[in-house]
Amino acid sequence: MGEFRLPSGRPEVEAFYHEDTGSLSYLVKDPDSPACAVIDPVMDYEPHGARSGFAFAERIAARIRERGLRLEWIIETHVHADHLSAAWYLRTGLGGRIGIGARVARVRELFSDIYGVPEDFLDAPFDHVFADDERYRIGNLEAVAWHTPGHTPACMTHLIGDAAFVGDTLFMPDAGTARADFPGGDAGMLYDSIQRILALPDETRVFVCHDYRPGGREVRWESRVVEQRANVHLAGVDRDGFIARRRAIDAGLDLPRLILPSIQVNLRAGRFPLDETGRPWLKLPVDRL
Ligand SMILES: [Fe+2]
Repeated sequence: MGEFRLPSGRPEVEAFYHEDTGSLSYLVKDPDSPACAVIDPVMDYEPHGARSGFAFAERIAARIRERGLRLEWIIETHVHADHLSAAWYLRTGLGGRIGIGARVARVRELFSDIYGVPEDFLDAPFDHVFADDERYRIGNLEAVAWHTPGHTPACMTHLIGDAAFVGDTLFMPDAGTARADFPGGDAGMLYDSIQRILALPDETRVFVCHDYRPGGREVRWESRVVEQRANVHLAGVDRDGFIARRRAIDAGLDLPRLILPSIQVNLRAGRFPLDETGRPWLKLPVDRL
C-alpha cells in the first residue's frame, strides 16, 4: 500500500435495508462523539403513479434524533441508477453536507445527451465533491474517499476507520459484483478497483450498497476483506477472465426499473427537477437508453 496510512477508529454502523430496491443505507457514528454520517439514503418511489415517499428515510432520521446525533455528512457512493436518493430530504431536516465523487461531472456529461436537456436540468447541487484519496473526518473518526470506478465512472469507496463502504464495487461474497455496462462503466476498471479494496487488511469490514438475497437467503450486508477475496465473481479468474465473466453476465441483464427517474434526481443530490410553476416533475426520454 506504499505511503498509504489506514484511517484509525472503529465506527458504529447501523444498516437499513430498503426492501423494494434491495438497497442498503447506513448510519455511521463516531464512537467518541455525537457526530455521524449517512451513506446512500434511499427515497421510496412508486413509478406507475410517480409517487415519492420518505418513510424509509424517516426511519434513519428518527434514529439520528432519538440518539441525539449530529449529522455531519450525507454521502453518496455513486450516482445510483436503481433507486432515488433521499439525501436532500435528510439535509433539509437534519443538516449535514452532501458529498459525492468528483467524477460526478462525467456522469452528468454522459446523461445530458440521453435526457436531451439543457445542462442545468442535471445541475448538481452537492455541497462537496471528493477528490481521489481525499481525507476527511466524521467527528474524531478518520475517513478517506477512494475513487473506485468501473460500475460507474464516479464510484467511490469510503474507508471510515476500519469500515469500507464499497458502494456497488462488490456485493456479498456469495453474490458477486455489480454490473459494469452502464454509460462510462468498464469491467477492467472495476477489477482494478476491487483489487485496491482487497489489498486492505483482512479484518476490514466491508459494507455493500445492495443485497438481492441470492437463493432466497436472509439479507446480508457485512463481510470482511478476507471473505471478499473468495467472492464468487473473482474465484478462479485473472483480470481478463473477470472481464469476460462480467461482460457475459451484463449481456443478459435488463435495465434497472428506476434508471430514468433515478439518474435525473440523483444528479441533483436527491431533488426532483421543478416545472415552470415550481412543482416537481420528471422527464422520460423515449428510446434513448
Ligand atoms: Fe449502483
